Amino acid sequence: MFFQTLTLGLTVSLLAAATPVEHDVARSVPLPKRASLTTSEGIFNHDLAILQSIATRKQVFIFFGDLETKHRQNLINLKKNVGFQAFNEGAEIKPLAQIPSGLQARSHGFEPLTDEEGDSEWAGTIEIGTPGRSFLIDFDTGSSDLWVPSFNCTSTVCSTKRKYTPNSSGTSAAKQGTFSIEYGDGSNVSGPIFSDTVTVAGVKAVNQIFSAVTTLSSSFQDDPIDGLLGLAFPRLSQLDANPFFNTAFVQGAVPYNLFAFKLASTGSALDLGNTVVPHCTNPDHFNGPIEFHNLSSESGFWQIGGAAIHTDQATPIKGFQTVIDSGTTIIYGPPDAVKRFYAEIPGATLFDSGNGIYSFPCFSDPRVAFSWGGRKWGVTADNFNLGQTKSGASECVGAIAAQDVGLGSDVWLLDDSFMKNVYTVFSFDRNAVGFAELA
Ligand SMILES: *[C@@H]1O[C@H](CO)[C@@H](O)[C@H](O)[C@H]1NC(C)=O
Ligand SMILES: *[C@@H]1O[C@H](CO)[C@@H](O)[C@H](O)[C@H]1NC(C)=O
Ligand SMILES: *[C@@H]1O[C@H](CO)[C@@H](O)[C@H](O)[C@H]1NC(C)=O
Ligand SMILES: *[C@@H]1O[C@H](CO)[C@@H](O)[C@H](O)[C@H]1NC(C)=O
Repeated sequence: MFFQTLTLGLTVSLLAAATPVEHDVARSVPLPKRASLTTSEGIFNHDLAILQSIATRKQVFIFFGDLETKHRQNLINLKKNVGFQAFNEGAEIKPLAQIPSGLQARSHGFEPLTDEEGDSEWAGTIEIGTPGRSFLIDFDTGSSDLWVPSFNCTSTVCSTKRKYTPNSSGTSAAKQGTFSIEYGDGSNVSGPIFSDTVTVAGVKAVNQIFSAVTTLSSSFQDDPIDGLLGLAFPRLSQLDANPFFNTAFVQGAVPYNLFAFKLASTGSALDLGNTVVPHCTNPDHFNGPIEFHNLSSESGFWQIGGAAIHTDQATPIKGFQTVIDSGTTIIYGPPDAVKRFYAEIPGATLFDSGNGIYSFPCFSDPRVAFSWGGRKWGVTADNFNLGQTKSGASECVGAIAAQDVGLGSDVWLLDDSFMKNVYTVFSFDRNAVGFAELA
């Protein structure tokens, strides 16, 4: 790791001398809208949620341990890279949740919804190689590696995916070793390691380490994305390399060491390095000041502490940890805490005990907010309400689920249901996460 960093540093100074940085250019990746767990009739699609989680394995819809699957992998990476320590009180590698056999039977006849697939993730386009080839990528603040399919992947899983061909890139270099990630449900990707030029929204990282995976388990077949780009800290990298954004910053490709997400029903974007306080060089996406909170852990996640959750009348839980993760869809909290939270929502009840899903009276539009010692950042009724439990029901499903994510007994995972309400800034400069009002 140390050696790698030195090498990169050297490349950068040469590069920086030759290529002046354009500090005033807004660099944004447009992100299509993620498919919702609510049908067009406003009904919570419980089967879709569960079946997607089984069928896709990816960390998009999670009710049966996919969440644990992903973070379990990250915890394993931690152990590998830095020696596993309890960064968080109670953190441990947990055995994965088992999928109940009844649900597997239901998943058997599941037809992936082709219409929804096209926008089922916060995906955007990146380019790899010289000349650049495009890939559709899931941007994930909860992991730290980049992988795309290899030309050498000839299985049906890869048939519809764009592939990386080292021979057709003038800047490709093969690296030693093999990249491999195995997930708790048996799915996995693996392949050789390369370095090449990677460009995201005009931001270029030279000699970026990534994997061109030759083996993808079949669960990736129905996933519209080609690959994944991690935006968490190098510490979590299975490739043991700087992730894309860190490489780009070290090389001077972005003026500021921070990126930000605007997740909204339209105009979603990932802003790279072009947002800074007090100079708001990309004011299009947010209003007013950015409220920053220092990271509370060295875990490698974007984790901030001292959080509280608020309802209309009460603050049922205070002083917990939160991991801000664009890779998952709804909010997860420790079961006891989530139970206390729903106790403050009149009429709320445990709807699906196996999955920690709660429902509440649809008409009540509960007001829910999180805070970290500053202002309260509200979750709009639309974002909190995942839809009716079934057609005609007066109960709706809440976007906060009870599940121990395996990162510690007081750690919540704040995902899209939260991030859709705010402009979220991830700052390596400040070692902090910031929130601002969406413009
Ligand atoms: C492609 O596969 C062949 C045979 O399986 C192997 O020899 C070669 O090294 C692979 N090339 C790359 C770029 O992975
Ligand atoms: C790629 O290049 C290597 C050597 O540079 C060569 O051995 C190999 O056959 C080439 N593969 C393809 C698919 O062109
Ligand atoms: C990868 O997943 C497949 C199932 O899709 C499984 O057969 C294979 O054993 C797994 N490989 C590893 C190394 O876990
Ligand atoms: C956040 O970190 C910065 C830099 O380490 C430090 O100066 C500041 O006091 C910290 N803020 C809080 C509220 O702890």
